[in-house]
Amino acid sequence: MPIKVKNADDIKSKLGQVVYLVGTQWGDEGKGKLADIISEKYDIIARAAGGANAGHTICINHEEVSKKYIFHLLPSGALHVGKICIIGNGTVIHIPTLLDEMHSLREHGIEIRDNLFISDRAHLIFDYHLQADSAQEDRKGVGKVGTTKRGIGPAYEDKIARRGIRAGDLLNFGYFVKKLRANAERYMKEYGFETDIEKEINVHKDAIQMIEGMIINTSEYLDKAYKEGKTIVAEGAQGTQLDIDFGTYPYVTSSNTISGGACTGLGIAPNKINTVLGIVKAYTTRVGEGPFPTELSSYEGEMLQEHGSEFGASTGRPRRCGWFDAMVVKEAIMLNGITSINLTKLDVLINFQTIKIGVGYKLNGDPITSMPLSQDLGSVEVQYEEMPGWNEDISKAKTFKDLPKNAQKYVKRLEEILEVPINFIGVGVHRDEMIFR
Ligand code: GDP
Ligand code: IMO
Ligand code: MG
Repeated sequence: MPIKVKNADDIKSKLGQVVYLVGTQWGDEGKGKLADIISEKYDIIARAAGGANAGHTICINHEEVSKKYIFHLLPSGALHVGKICIIGNGTVIHIPTLLDEMHSLREHGIEIRDNLFISDRAHLIFDYHLQADSAQEDRKGVGKVGTTKRGIGPAYEDKIARRGIRAGDLLNFGYFVKKLRANAERYMKEYGFETDIEKEINVHKDAIQMIEGMIINTSEYLDKAYKEGKTIVAEGAQGTQLDIDFGTYPYVTSSNTISGGACTGLGIAPNKINTVLGIVKAYTTRVGEGPFPTELSSYEGEMLQEHGSEFGASTGRPRRCGWFDAMVVKEAIMLNGITSINLTKLDVLINFQTIKIGVGYKLNGDPITSMPLSQDLGSVEVQYEEMPGWNEDISKAKTFKDLPKNAQKYVKRLEEILEVPINFIGVGVHRDEMIFR
C-alpha cells in the first residue's frame, strides 16, 4: 500500500518508529527542513555519517521575522526543546566546530548540552586533517574534488587505516595525547606543514569539561530507547551520488551516505528501519567538481540558481544547477529502498515556459539502464521529456489542489516515472511551507 500523509499528526503513524531521511542527488536537497518538521513528532534525532561538510538549513517564521539556522554536525531536530540528539559512530567530529555550533545555538536561546550524546566510537578531526585536505586538493590541481576542506577525507583515511583517534579516547587523556602526537607528526612529515600540537592538546583538554558526560555508547543507548518504544529519525547527510561506493567516484565524499550507512553509522540493525524517506529536489544541483549530465550552462541554470538561492550552506560556493535527472533519483530509490518522497523546492521552478525532465541516458548511442562509472557519466547523452511551466507563486499553497495545474502535472509525472509516492512537497524555505499528501 503506498504511503499517504494527510498532515503533520499523521507522520509518525505512517512512517513508523525509525525513519531514515536520505539525500537522493548530490546533497543540499533540503534534508534539514524535513528533519526539523519530522523531529517535532519524534523523540530522538541522530546523525549517522559525515561531519561539518554538511550544511542543513532551517528557516522559521516567528512573529513575522524569518529566522535562519544552519546545522553542520548537530542534528537538525535540535530546535525542538527536549529532543535527544545523537552524533553517531559513523560521523567525524571536529570538536571546536561542534562547540562553536552549540555556542551559536545558545545565543539563540537553545541549550542542547543535556540532550546531546556523542558516540564514543566516532572519529575525531584535528587541524592537521583540515590542513591535509587542502594540501591534497592542491596536489591534485585540475583533478581536485572540490571538497569542503573540513578534513573529512583525511579523517576517514585514518579511520580505515586503523590509526584514527576516537571520541572515547578523550576519556583516557594520556593515551589520547600519545596518539595525537604520533599522528600529528606523521602528517607534518608527509605534507611538510606545521601544526600546533600543544594548542591542539589544550583545546581538547578544555573541551573535555564540556563534553565528557556526552560521550557514551550511542548504539546501546539507541537500542534501549528503541525497546522502550521511543521514535528515532536518522538524518542523512550529503546525497546518494556523493556516496563513497555508489556516487560519482572519485568526486564523492568519504562516507556511505546511503541507508546502509545509517545502519553502520548508528549501530541500528537494518530490520529496525521502518521507512527510508528520499529527499528529492525538484531540479538538480551539485557543489564541487565531477560529472553532472543535466547541468545547464544557459540562463535557465542561472534562473534556478537565483530563484533557489543555490549557494552552499557550508562553504558559500555557488551550486551548479540543472534539470531533474530521473536516472539519478531512480538509482537512489533502488540503493536506499525509498518508499516515500519529499519533493523540495517546487516553488523555484516558477516562470519557465518549459521544464525538462531527464528520463534516460544514452552512452555511445545506446540506451543504458543504470548509472555508469564517472568517466562515462561525463559523456552520456540525456533523453529529455518536456512539461509546460507555470508563473504563479506557489509558496502559499497548503494542499495539492492549491497548486497550479501544470505544477500538479509535473509532480504527478515525476511520481509516475519514479514509482514512489511523493508525500511531502516543499513550496518555500519556511517550516510551514510544506504540503502533506
Ligand atoms: P540540506 O543540506 O539537504 O539540508 O539542504 P541545504 O540546507 O544545504 O539546502 C537547501 C536550501 O533550500 C536551504 O537554503 C533551504 O532553506 C532551502 N529549501 C528547503 N526546502 C525548500 C523549498 O521547498 N523551497 C525553497 N524555496 N527553498 C527550500
Ligand atoms: P549536505 O549534508 C553538498 C561535496 C563537496 C565535494 C565532495 C567532497 O549539506 O547535503 P568533502 O568535504 O565531503 O570531502 O567533499 O562532496 N559535499 C557536499 N555537497 N552537500 C553536502 O552536504 C556535501 N558534503 C560534501 O562539495 O564535492
Ligand atoms: Mg546542505
